[in-house]
Amino acid sequence: MKEDIEKVLISADEIKVKKEEIGERITREYQHRFPLVIGVLKGAMPFMADLTRSINAHLEIDFMDVSSYGNQMTSSGEVKIVKDLDSSVEGRDIIIIEDIIDSGLTLSYLVSLFHHRKANSVKIVTLLDKPEGRKADIVPDIAGFTVPDEFVVGYGLDYAERYRNLPYIGILKPDIYRDS
Ligand code: PRP
Ligand code: MN
Ligand code: MG
Repeated sequence: MKEDIEKVLISADEIKVKKEEIGERITREYQHRFPLVIGVLKGAMPFMADLTRSINAHLEIDFMDVSSYGNQMTSSGEVKIVKDLDSSVEGRDIIIIEDIIDSGLTLSYLVSLFHHRKANSVKIVTLLDKPEGRKADIVPDIAGFTVPDEFVVGYGLDYAERYRNLPYIGILKPDIYRDS
């Protein structure tokens, strides 16, 4: 698997340092607030697991899985709920955890949904931000790293469902795309 990677963009150590930094910030901001931390499946899985363990405050975790209708997001950013939350967001302080924000359509939908469901507050934490891909007006409250408009994989991010288990963020070799 690792032989498919052309270049390591963000190392496991860099992710670790950043995760500690973000964890400390959330610890300070959410003391005594009991936030509901929501991971967006599947990409957010490693970051969610690592980041929450760097937060020294009481919190609750939940997961949501959404997907676009067909393969392409509609311009309205309409998405389908594949797995909804177990908990109610009403009156809660929500922290959404994402691996990457690209077009912003996934988060645009989720943020509206949680406001509609009467959340007290909604914050967005993403490991990666790809501002060049943006179609919806979404700005993360906390972003670990800004990435260029290239196909990145690893640490949750997939190409055809593979590479999510890489411990770092890398760029795929072009022949991997060509062969498929
Ligand atoms: C990817 C990624 C984000 C979303 C970002 O998820 O994990 O959730 O796309 O793209 P956007 O800003 O353009 O909406 P995907 O829908 O591929 O599902 P996955 O997490 O299961 O890979
Ligand atoms: Mn995702
Ligand atoms: Mg994906």
